[in-house]
Amino acid sequence: MKIWQMTDWQKLYEEKNTPWDRGEASPALIDWLGSHRMPGTILVPGCGPGNDLIALATSGAVRVVGLDIAAGAIAIAADKTRGINGVSLVTGDLFTLNDGSLRWGFDWVFEHTCFCAIEPSRRWDYVRSVAGALRPGGHLLAVFYLEPWDQDEDQNQGPPFRSDLHELDALFGSEFDLLYSAIPTSSFLGREGKELIRLLRRH
Ligand SMILES: C[S@@+](CC[C@H](N)C(=O)[O-])C[C@H]1O[C@@H](n2cnc3c(N)ncnc32)[C@H](O)[C@@H]1O
Repeated sequence: MKIWQMTDWQKLYEEKNTPWDRGEASPALIDWLGSHRMPGTILVPGCGPGNDLIALATSGAVRVVGLDIAAGAIAIAADKTRGINGVSLVTGDLFTLNDGSLRWGFDWVFEHTCFCAIEPSRRWDYVRSVAGALRPGGHLLAVFYLEPWDQDEDQNQGPPFRSDLHELDALFGSEFDLLYSAIPTSSFLGREGKELIRLLRRH
């Protein structure tokens, strides 16, 4: 049985049942930032404990906004990012925030284990929300976790929920041009070969 089957995210944070928190930023993101710039403003939906925010904010972004539905995640992220310039945090639902409570028009969205955490039936909503958060021509840098399963696990249960190239092409192709796609050369232990890093540009 998966440890994070429940989707009461706040409860998981209260119980400290957060196996996705590796205490450091996505290795694929760190690699990316070693040879690419991400200037401007960046939204990180489902930022969780904020490890990726630190890497983004200390690599030249003007403003990094971490968004999470769980107040417990935002509290941890606030502790971790205290004193780091340019980071702000918002507790809220990615699917309903596009109502004016957060100013959209971001230059970038960074995705990491948010897409795989949401119900598959809401994936179109995810694409629309992320596209809506970006300015036209803005970029989505995503580290998709495609096969978040150990060998003997039931792939119909989640989160996390699996995905594949065909689904990503179909979903994101409606709103984005695909600029780059590769299996990252660096991953967390156990995620090797199961991730995909993609750069997409909003139409
Ligand atoms: C698997 S965790 C990953 C957290 C972080 N990205 C990381 O890698 O450590 C998924 C996160 O997405 C958040 N989340 C789930 N649904 C959300 C939604 N609709 N809007 C905003 N955040 C959401 C959860 O609270 C949780 O912190």
